[in-house]
Amino acid sequence: MDAIQLLKNRRSVRKYKSQDIPRELITEIVKLSQFAPSWSNYQIARYNIIDNKTIIEDIANNCVQGFVYNTKTLTRASGVVVLSYVTGKSGSLEGKVKPEDAVPGDSAAWECFDAGIACLQFCLSAYAKGVATCVLGVINNEAIAKRIGLPENEKVAALIVYGYEDGEHHEAPTRKEVEEILRFID
Ligand SMILES: Cc1cc2nc3c(=O)[nH]c(=O)nc-3n(C[C@H](O)[C@H](O)[C@H](O)COP(=O)(O)O)c2cc1C
Repeated sequence: MDAIQLLKNRRSVRKYKSQDIPRELITEIVKLSQFAPSWSNYQIARYNIIDNKTIIEDIANNCVQGFVYNTKTLTRASGVVVLSYVTGKSGSLEGKVKPEDAVPGDSAAWECFDAGIACLQFCLSAYAKGVATCVLGVINNEAIAKRIGLPENEKVAALIVYGYEDGEHHEAPTRKEVEEILRFID
C-alpha cells in the first residue's frame, strides 16, 4: 500500500471478525508508532494493550459514560489500547537548554498534542499491517486509569479499539471543501 492510499483509506472501523490479533503483530504496530514525532523526543505515549475479553467487557460496560455505540464497538473488538501519556514532560525544555534560555510551554496542551500524534500513528501503522482501528473519545478516563492500575504520573488520552475488519471497507465520511479549511496568508 502506498502512502497516499494509506492516508486516504484508513477508516474508523467498528465491526471486527472474532479472530484474535497476535501480540507480536501489535508489538510491530507499536514499534512503527514509535517513529511519531514528539515534544523534545520525550516519547511520552504509552500503549496499554488489553486483549482479555473479560476486562474489555468490563470497560465496555462501565467506562464509556453509558454511550451504547462505544459499548457495542468494544464488545466486538479483538483488543483495545488504552493510550496514556506521561505527565510533566512535554511543554518543557528543562535539561535540554540552558536554564536562562528555557521558556515555559503549556504542558497540558502539549501532552495531549503528543498523545494525539501517537494515536494517529498507531491507527495508520495498524492499517498498514492489515489491522482496523477506531479511536474512542467518549470514555471515562479516570475509571479506565483506575481499572488498569495506570501509574500515578500518567493520564488516559483515548481508547483505540482494534481487530480485523468485518464486512465491506467503507468510503470516507464526507470531508469539508478544502477552501473551508485552508488559508494562504499573504
Ligand atoms: C479524538 C477522537 C475521538 C473519537 N471518539 C469516537 C467515539 O467515541 N466513538 C466512535 O465511534 N468514534 C469516535 N471517533 C471516530 C470519528 O467518529 C471518526 O474518525 C470520524 O467520523 C471520521 O471517520 P474516519 O475515521 O473513518 O475517517 C473519534 C475520533 C477521534 C479522532
